[in-house]
Amino acid sequence: DALVKINDQVDPTLSFRRSCREGVCGSCAMNIDGHNTLACLTPINSLKAGASRITPLPHLPVLKDLIPDLTGLYAQYALIEPWLQSDQPPPDRERRQSPEDRAKLDGLWECILCFCCTTSCPSYWWSGERYLGPAILLQAYRWIADSRDEAAGERLDDLEDPFRLYRCHTIMNCTRTCPKSLNPAKAIAEIKQLM
Ligand code: FES
Repeated sequence: DALVKINDQVDPTLSFRRSCREGVCGSCAMNIDGHNTLACLTPINSLKAGASRITPLPHLPVLKDLIPDLTGLYAQYALIEPWLQSDQPPPDRERRQSPEDRAKLDGLWECILCFCCTTSCPSYWWSGERYLGPAILLQAYRWIADSRDEAAGERLDDLEDPFRLYRCHTIMNCTRTCPKSLNPAKAIAEIKQLM
């Protein structure tokens, strides 16, 4: 609301992304008073009194004002092939899954790819061109953990690399900052265990 008001009444050139205004699209991720978070889920009265400092997500190229360039992150997302892979011909209706197997995806499918976690990770700041970072690794695990997907072996092979996975040093900023209260560090630990 504050940014919309500034844009509307003070400086119409102020640029930032937003769409859903309810923590679903991930567009409005930015750093507010030192924390990566979603602007739309941050009540103004939860901020400290006085002026707030708002900057783009850290350590990404900036296109304009609060708009980071996510091109590299989307390329890394494409690298993990984030879709269901199976040699089984498509059934007439849905691919079935037991409630227990479906429950294994809880805590993973809710990720909205806002990249608050990845851009809070010092390992990603230092090695972002080769380390995939917490958001992409959580997404990779979402498919590895899916009982309907048959490519887990290949997916793990693709992550077996000194940089892609193993630059995670369990710093835990990712889990601390996730505005959806997910646990990317745990997903990364699960991948390491499967390796
Ligand atoms: Fe969609 Fe904030 S506007 S998450």
